[in-house]
Amino acid sequence: MAIEPARLVTFVGPSGSGKTTLLNIIGCMDKPTSGEVRVAGTRTDTLNRRQAAAFRGGHLGFIFQSFNLIPVLSVYENVEYPLLMISPTPAPERKERVLRVLEAVGMTDHKDKRPDQVSGGQKQRVAVARALVTNPQVVLADEPTANLDQKTAQRIIALMRQMRDAFGTTFIFSTHDPRIVEHADEIHTLEDGRLVKDNHDITGGAAHA
Ligand SMILES: Nc1ncnc2c1ncn2[C@@H]1O[C@H](COP(=O)(O)OP(=O)(O)OP(=O)(O)O)[C@@H](O)[C@H]1O
Ligand SMILES: [Mg+2]
Repeated sequence: MAIEPARLVTFVGPSGSGKTTLLNIIGCMDKPTSGEVRVAGTRTDTLNRRQAAAFRGGHLGFIFQSFNLIPVLSVYENVEYPLLMISPTPAPERKERVLRVLEAVGMTDHKDKRPDQVSGGQKQRVAVARALVTNPQVVLADEPTANLDQKTAQRIIALMRQMRDAFGTTFIFSTHDPRIVEHADEIHTLEDGRLVKDNHDITGGAAHA
């Protein structure tokens, strides 16, 4: 299958169907036993560990179900973290980028708080900002809304759509929630480790399975 740039793509399917496995393969955290994987123009299934880590830092962003924010750092510092540790960026540019994504996710007013001082939905907004701050081409998220209430979950998806339009980012995520799925550009269904053929392309784009 192929996924076009600047799309919001979701994988659905029963427990054990392979959603996490597929996201881990696209995210260069796991390798397929057969087949080819290309992400952002690079063949990734042949990269060694170090190359894969460098590729992740340069091209990919990750959003986790449990937010994975660092509790002792402020909201601002959590978002800044990848620009210090993963793709080192000079201070003035770093500040500009952190402030820009915090603004984009509507968290500017909370930038000096620690993660335990903001709500679940706000934590996930920070996680979205942190995933976007390095300007990744692809952001991967395994059930990013699983720990959020329905309304907050829909806000996070709306935020992803906004970010897709603003930055041309491709979002690929898995979910069990049918009410979230309907906001995606494409829905791909997995069953027993295989793509089910009749995938649903809501916006009529070029992706195919
Ligand atoms: N580390 C592993 N080693 C071997 N098999 C695994 C491993 N992790 C998952 N599997 C198997 O691979 C298949 C796909 O699992 P995967 O975690 O990708 O499913 P999933 O669609 O994400 O499920 P869920 O909705 O429960 O998160 C399952 O049969 C699972 O048991
Ligand atoms: Mg899973």
